[in-house]
Amino acid sequence: MVHAVYPGSFDPLHNGHLDIIRRAHRIYDRLTVAVLHNPLKDRYLFDVDERVAIVSDVVKNLRGVEVDSFGGLLADYMRRLDATVIVKGLRAISDFEVELQMAHLNRQLNPNVETTFIMTATRWSYVSSTRVKEIARYGADVSKLVPAAVQRRLRERYQEAQAG
Ligand code: PNS
Repeated sequence: MVHAVYPGSFDPLHNGHLDIIRRAHRIYDRLTVAVLHNPLKDRYLFDVDERVAIVSDVVKNLRGVEVDSFGGLLADYMRRLDATVIVKGLRAISDFEVELQMAHLNRQLNPNVETTFIMTATRWSYVSSTRVKEIARYGADVSKLVPAAVQRRLRERYQEAQAG
């Protein structure tokens, strides 16, 4: 049985992420979506528990997909889970350069782990969490970019920010 991990910040999850989750789910027996808890990165819009809750809500009907959070090195987390495959989405050459470096380093840190790449669907290749937040912050429509549950939470978060 192959246990794969799809790691990321997911701040927030968008349709490109969801597409990768669905496609990885078809390939691997077990898939853990692992949300990064990084205490040094204090610029998250949603805290780690909120990000886990959002992803869990969106993937609740995908049997075999689990959602978790992790801190520290991904290579160590893979060891703790006894998982052997990292899944990453690739949108463009710019992603490739970063991902190539991480794949080599992760393999050096944990030689039992292989990083695999799924090419992002063309229709989501221009979507990033950063741009989604930028658009939502100004009250514009992100319904074509994120699942409905994420759209709702973005609206609430930015309304709270305005009220506060
Ligand atoms: O969604 P992101 O922010 O592009 O995801 C990046 C992530 C979480 C996959 C990456 O930052 C990561 O693996 N962080 C854990 C720390 C780590 O292992 N760093 C060394 C990588 S070689």
